[in-house]
Amino acid sequence: MTAEGIEGTDTTAAAGPRALPMAVPAPGLPARVRIHEVGARDGLQNEKTAVPVEVKAEFIRRLADAGLTTIEATSFVHPKWVPQLADAEQLFPKVSELPGVALPVLVPNQRGLDRALALGARRVAVFASATESFAKANLNRTVDESLAVFEPVVRQAKDAGAHVRGYVSMCFGDPWEGPVPLHQVVRVCRALRDMGCDELSLGDTIGVATPGHVLDLLAQLNEEGVPTDEIGVHFHDTYGQALSNTLAALQHGVTTVDASAGGLGGCPYARSATGNLATEDLVWMLRGLGIDTGVDLGRLVATSVWMAEQLGRPSPSRTVRALSHQEQ
Ligand code: HMG
Ligand code: MG
Repeated sequence: MTAEGIEGTDTTAAAGPRALPMAVPAPGLPARVRIHEVGARDGLQNEKTAVPVEVKAEFIRRLADAGLTTIEATSFVHPKWVPQLADAEQLFPKVSELPGVALPVLVPNQRGLDRALALGARRVAVFASATESFAKANLNRTVDESLAVFEPVVRQAKDAGAHVRGYVSMCFGDPWEGPVPLHQVVRVCRALRDMGCDELSLGDTIGVATPGHVLDLLAQLNEEGVPTDEIGVHFHDTYGQALSNTLAALQHGVTTVDASAGGLGGCPYARSATGNLATEDLVWMLRGLGIDTGVDLGRLVATSVWMAEQLGRPSPSRTVRALSHQEQ
């Protein structure tokens, strides 16, 4: 398969012959991957300065224009906990009519779900933790207390016809507790699935996972009755492992991968969490493997360059830098 054969209209091609990897498929990988884009939420929640609501809306529109079809828009959390996303009520209606785009939003509790459903959200995500320390830091609850809060939220969301994602943070390591035992992660995943979540996202919030660990967790989840097609992966690139971990997950059969345009993000309640896997770095690898994402890499890079200008600093994504010739 040639590179041109995957996404014929990619504007990156206009940048010259070096601008696209040669597509060489590898055995045992999926033909298509769905990218769950988290830059507007996971990325911007971590910015020191508040990004104007119009800029956020434009960011989401540009991401959609680049071919992303699942774009996490914002969070209906307490505005004092995450002031960067305090404009959720203003932002969501500005983008909710984008054709062909699913716009998941985070809801931590009943209040968050009410706010999201009142605006017509069709996809929501609850977010649990595999560790007690992060549950306390992020949700002001123990793990079990937060699961008890989520249970009626998930039920009501499902009754309202919404798709529900269940995030699990700190699946591999925790800044306070160190390595996280697999059984702790599996227990929380099972609980979220049992309460009705349609998909799970395994968060390596501080980026300490390595490929063998990823495969171990996926195998353990399968053994405990969680099928691979309900699992997405959410890697951070703190130690440069995000793409290796993604490749391992793809080899296991995972087809939903979270990523953040330009590598924006971290987590306001876990200081050692640095950027998420950059969507551009992911798309580069997937293109090279002949895996379809529907994303126009050129348009996506242009979007991240534009966003970097709004934020006043360059994107940490290697692919964005290489394709836009930014200074290292
Ligand atoms: P709390 O202080 O325990 O809240 O915070 P509470 O239930 O005691 O309520 C206190 C007040 O907050 C009440 O108001 C509530 O109405 C209000 P008062 O009666 O005092 O006037 N309140 C709300 N207001 C607006 N929206 C709401 C809401 N809920 C309560 N939804 C709470 C508990 C969950 C609210 C808080 O801890 C919170 O908002 N946490 C969110 C933190 C967050 O968003 N973190 C980042 C996302 S997770 C992440 O980044 C990881 C992930 O990306 C994956 C990965 O990378 O690993 C997903
Ligand atoms: Mg993240």
